[in-house]
Amino acid sequence: MSKAKAFPLLSPEEAAEKIFHGATVAFSGFTNAGAAKLLPRAIAARAESLHSKGEPFKIRVLTGASSGESIDEPLARAQAMSYRAPYQSGPILRRQINQQEVEYVDMHLSHLPQTVLEGFHGKVDFAVIEATEITSDGRVYLTTSIGASPTYLKYADHVIIEINRHHSERLREMADIVIMPPPPHRFPLPFSDPLTKVGYPYAVVDPKKVVAVLENDEQDHVPSFSAADERSHRIAQHVVRFLLDEMLAGRIPDDFPPLQAGVGNVSNGVMAALAQNPYIPPFRMYTEVFQDSLVDIMEQGKLVAASTTSLTVTHETLKRLYSNMDFFVPRIVLRPQEISNHPGIIRRLGVIALNTAIEVDIYGNVNSSHVYGMDIMNGIGGSGEFTRNSYISIFMCPSVAKGGRISAIVPMCPHIDNNEHSVQIVVTDQGLADLRGMGPAHRAQTIIERCAHPAYKDYLHGYLERSRRGHIRHDLATSFELHLNLMEQGAMLPDLDLSSINDA
Ligand code: COA
Repeated sequence: MSKAKAFPLLSPEEAAEKIFHGATVAFSGFTNAGAAKLLPRAIAARAESLHSKGEPFKIRVLTGASSGESIDEPLARAQAMSYRAPYQSGPILRRQINQQEVEYVDMHLSHLPQTVLEGFHGKVDFAVIEATEITSDGRVYLTTSIGASPTYLKYADHVIIEINRHHSERLREMADIVIMPPPPHRFPLPFSDPLTKVGYPYAVVDPKKVVAVLENDEQDHVPSFSAADERSHRIAQHVVRFLLDEMLAGRIPDDFPPLQAGVGNVSNGVMAALAQNPYIPPFRMYTEVFQDSLVDIMEQGKLVAASTTSLTVTHETLKRLYSNMDFFVPRIVLRPQEISNHPGIIRRLGVIALNTAIEVDIYGNVNSSHVYGMDIMNGIGGSGEFTRNSYISIFMCPSVAKGGRISAIVPMCPHIDNNEHSVQIVVTDQGLADLRGMGPAHRAQTIIERCAHPAYKDYLHGYLERSRRGHIRHDLATSFELHLNLMEQGAMLPDLDLSSINDA
């Protein structure tokens, strides 16, 4: 039976005809989870067809976060995008952004709804939202992510709904949807636990705006992560030991504050290590993305509750989750990204934030987004809102990359996403630097000694020695020498014997 009887049922091609050159289109999706799927492909095909006739066609694209093969990559392949916010992680789109063919706004993810409302991304012409159902009075039951979809439904001029029958209708039992009014009318959010609910199980749309409904049964295209490598294991062990020491010191209570973890292999490795350690008590999460490893940990009883904005899990894992909704529904809440990443709630709950860096400088400034400070990798994502407001902020990364040609510990980061005032703990496979209570000179010595790969320590100590004294010591003439070497000669220290570095 149709889940959208009251609205015009169109084919993806018919719906794509409505999208005009220059339109701003806001798609559902936070990662590939809950992403619109049919219309992005149909728009890409329309763009290719128009381009072959010499006609221009590009759209401005908003989503919740990255969207990979569901949205970003088909549209980028078809050269159909001129503008993108707030986050991406696809290789084709990344290349177009770095060649300045696509304007990219890399921003804190919880800020997105407010900037949409304020009009900074232009008028939202279309919202294209995946749902399990839309009722005739405009209740929209979302799928595996909430992201910014409630905001897009509210502010877009026209709305297209992709009804996806693949998803469990019981997802609505996890959803807790609230849209904050603009300041000064925001209201207190009485959160005392990741499972606190304050909203509704559905988003709302004015039914008059719904111009098309498409029907689909396609799964989310969430790629699986490879198993954690040796370096990730070592990072994970340092993190676990640190958290146990914090418990012993009485700074982490036995009932453990909620954790946030970024996506990726390092995070997966850390979560698995936490789950396996018998001295880490069962814990909760207040996080942005719920990924595969968390399903296992929840089934084992180690993860007892999770707040997230997306279920970014592979097809197999989602099947497992859907077959056991009686178990998972009371343990997971799906929220809009404005709330999953809300600085005030993160601060109140005392979240322990675990994020990944591309590189860290000797004072603890973190670059997570721009290689050489110039080329975008993915973006800042939610790392800033968690790091700045957490109870304990931890950054992790392997000490070297690309077979040792790159040191992740550098004199000065050429781009900074999270600065030394917010970053408290730095962890690499070499060790952990707890920077709390330390001035800059102390921080630099600690980071070099604990976190840098031995092959880079002499260079980094030498940098400090030749630096001009000040509160923070730097030698501005050579602050970016390692980066320049990498750009020009393919290695940060071209004379280094790489055979001595085991880049597992
Ligand atoms: N300089 C240049 N390149 C580097 C590098 C450095 N210092 N360190 C790593 N790289 C390269 C790696 O070699 C790899 O290259 P490849 O794709 O050619 O193999 C690439 O960067 C990614 O590194 P990898 O070790 O695979 O990292 P990852 O998958 O763990 O991702 C981030 C690390 C930082 C890119 C990723 O966590 C991110 O985008 N973070 C920002 C957003 C965020 O924190 N989100 C979660 C918050 S809720």
